[in-house]
Amino acid sequence: MKNKVILITGGAGFVGSNLAHMLLAEEPKELIIVDNLLSSERPMIPDSKKVTFIHGSIADDRILGELPSQLNYVFHLATFHGNQNSIFDPIADHANNTFTTLKLFETLKDFPHIKKIVYSSAGCTVAEKTFDAAEPTREDAPVSLYLDSPYQLSKIFGEYYSNYYFSHHKLPIVKARFQNVYGPGEILGAGKWRGTYATVWRNVVPTFIYRSIKSMPLIVENEGRASRDFIYVTDIVRGLVACAKSGTPGEVYNLASGTETSILQLAKLINQLTGNSTQLEMGPKRPWDNSGHRFGSVEKAKEELDFIADTPITEGLRNTIQWTKDNMDQIDHCVNKHADKMEKITAFSS
Ligand SMILES: NC(=O)c1ccc[n+]([C@@H]2O[C@H](COP(=O)([O-])OP(=O)(O)OC[C@H]3O[C@@H](n4cnc5c(N)ncnc54)[C@H](O)[C@@H]3O)[C@@H](O)[C@H]2O)c1
Repeated sequence: MKNKVILITGGAGFVGSNLAHMLLAEEPKELIIVDNLLSSERPMIPDSKKVTFIHGSIADDRILGELPSQLNYVFHLATFHGNQNSIFDPIADHANNTFTTLKLFETLKDFPHIKKIVYSSAGCTVAEKTFDAAEPTREDAPVSLYLDSPYQLSKIFGEYYSNYYFSHHKLPIVKARFQNVYGPGEILGAGKWRGTYATVWRNVVPTFIYRSIKSMPLIVENEGRASRDFIYVTDIVRGLVACAKSGTPGEVYNLASGTETSILQLAKLINQLTGNSTQLEMGPKRPWDNSGHRFGSVEKAKEELDFIADTPITEGLRNTIQWTKDNMDQIDHCVNKHADKMEKITAFSS
């Protein structure tokens, strides 16, 4: 990607900022980041002369009109984070998750120098809803018409739009279906209040790590029976770059570790790594979440992209724990800025 012009939408976010750092090492001509800082903070954007930061929504006509027609690569990561917040505010989810994708592709269809667009989709949308032994979710798994959240609907609409703009406008879009990403750079409470406790307690890994370092009890929902496929952030950004370089337009690839970890195992492992001896607390099942056991199939990405996520979970968690300790002041600041709003809601209200 040397000397190429690259756009990352949502490039101030957790995955986007990690991706930005990796892409800068490839010496692009220019790296444009468009982000409205809805779930991220400005300091997450790399400080580099190569970076142009445009503050605002990628659905905004003025911003779309400013994009240079020399764009070569686009990583579309902007999203309304995440499932719980989308249930609370489906309209905001639509505005920042579905409409963004449609408007971006509609603009890019006329750009003459695009080599690849990578759309970030979500494995949770296609995973089978089961608490029986899970099979690895393959890329060609059927998609249910009955999904758990507006976020999941938005992510799959993005895939439909990707297919439409690829088929009808020859836009070279590759879809990357992420499993659960964790790692340095995910700041609890980053950005603006989005209506639920999930503004602060984003994903399970950073939440458990933060509480564990502070010797707080980890709250394990539904006895920790659910399982997820945790993929380290450095691996996912390598996978995104592999999609951009080697992905076949029109295709979808899982970016997964292929390893299943239960939430109970995760909680125990994190407490062991931080030395937190405070007892786990059992919480109720999240009412909206029908996902049980799940993990992604890694075969297609291995064969076609030569991509393997190879960071063992213990190593990834150790790095994330260290990063969390090193950045605790900033994380505390972001968590605490929502304190008054958090007081008004109960943890399991949505
Ligand atoms: N982290 C995961 O486990 C995971 C799993 C599956 C899929 N994904 C997908 O990966 C992508 C990145 O997720 P993340 O974990 O980094 O989340 P994130 O919340 O850290 O990043 C999303 C970014 O998008 C920005 N954004 C929101 N609305 C925008 C808009 N209208 N215009 C421009 N920017 C906007 C936010 O401010 C934020 O910086 C998302 O598309 C998400 O759906 C992530």
